[in-house]
Amino acid sequence: MPATQDTMPAATVPKTMVAVAIDEFGGPEVLKVHTLKVPVLDKHEVLIAVHTAGVGRWDADMREGWTPDGEVPRFPLVLGTDGSGVIAATGSRVRRLKVDDLVYSYSFYNPKGGFYAQYVAVAAEKVAHIPGGMDREHAGAIPTTGLTALQGIDDALGVKSGETVIIHGASGGVGTLAVQFAKWRGAKVFATASGADGVALVRQLGAAAAVDGRHEDITAAARAFAPNGADAVLGFAGGDGLERCIDALREGGRVAYPNGVEPEPVKRPGVEIVSYDALAGVREFNRLTRAVEETKLKVPIAAAFPLAEAARAHERLAAGHVLGKIVLRVR
Ligand SMILES: NC(=O)c1ccc[n+]([C@@H]2O[C@H](COP(=O)([O-])OP(=O)(O)OC[C@H]3O[C@@H](n4cnc5c(N)ncnc54)[C@H](OP(=O)(O)O)[C@@H]3O)[C@@H](O)[C@H]2O)c1
Repeated sequence: MPATQDTMPAATVPKTMVAVAIDEFGGPEVLKVHTLKVPVLDKHEVLIAVHTAGVGRWDADMREGWTPDGEVPRFPLVLGTDGSGVIAATGSRVRRLKVDDLVYSYSFYNPKGGFYAQYVAVAAEKVAHIPGGMDREHAGAIPTTGLTALQGIDDALGVKSGETVIIHGASGGVGTLAVQFAKWRGAKVFATASGADGVALVRQLGAAAAVDGRHEDITAAARAFAPNGADAVLGFAGGDGLERCIDALREGGRVAYPNGVEPEPVKRPGVEIVSYDALAGVREFNRLTRAVEETKLKVPIAAAFPLAEAARAHERLAAGHVLGKIVLRVR
């Protein structure tokens, strides 16, 4: 059997690679297959031979012209903030990771191009070994969503055992993981989901109660669940549904949401509202890996596309009602 690129020694990393990149901003059709140079490593970086790349709504925002600094990027721009794969080469100062290690990684707006590519060069601190018991496809689906879910539960809200937590937008990429982390922390979870299939999914993942937040009375159902008011709300969708969740909080209750949720919740007296961004680092990945292993995390993958069909993956994303996560199979 011929050696796959996954098993190639570092010396055989090719000079060029297949990547999906954009040359201009626009709709899914601007995502095109390119042949690009394999990125050259700095001393603190590792080169990952990508197996799976995550597809998120932030990728679609960047495709349409959003950048974190508001500046026009250099084209061709390779999208993709996270994924999994095998270390193909390491920078001279990297000690923690070595060639052939199976890894997962999150690097938002990665300076040398994203994960929609056969190879990506990432700062080593944003790369970690794949959790035990998880395959590369599922590990590639969770770096962004897993860090966001866990940091929402543990850091932004500080959820404690016995608390009641409302997770709004629980059937999406982040929410499906947040339900499991909240339950792991000993919380009772009330989830709002999209559609009857979304409700069934979040119940299966551990929500004690759930409603279709688009069609059912969220406040009434949440009050029936927590008659004295819920302790906390974690929002993964904005607008009226999120406001109705906040209506069901107790006095002094708290709200958190990751930046990007729009519209942002309206400030109100007696309610603490915090927004946050997911952080990637050695400590953050250690915590995520432990949480994944202890919860035996279930990762719903709504759809998987070959790398060359990234445009179709973005069309699927735009169609909405994605239960869990969309991924690209790069190898
Ligand atoms: N700042 C950061 O570090 C960071 C990191 C990750 C994510 N984020 C943000 O976090 C948010 C969630 O990300 P995600 O990947 O989980 O997105 P997602 O997969 O689209 O999840 C959002 C979910 O909310 C559902 N929803 C919308 N309105 C609802 C309602 N009224 N009731 C119940 N459910 C409702 C959506 O269903 P439909 O699809 O059917 O509408 C979808 O399943 C996004 O805004 C993203 O930009 C920020």
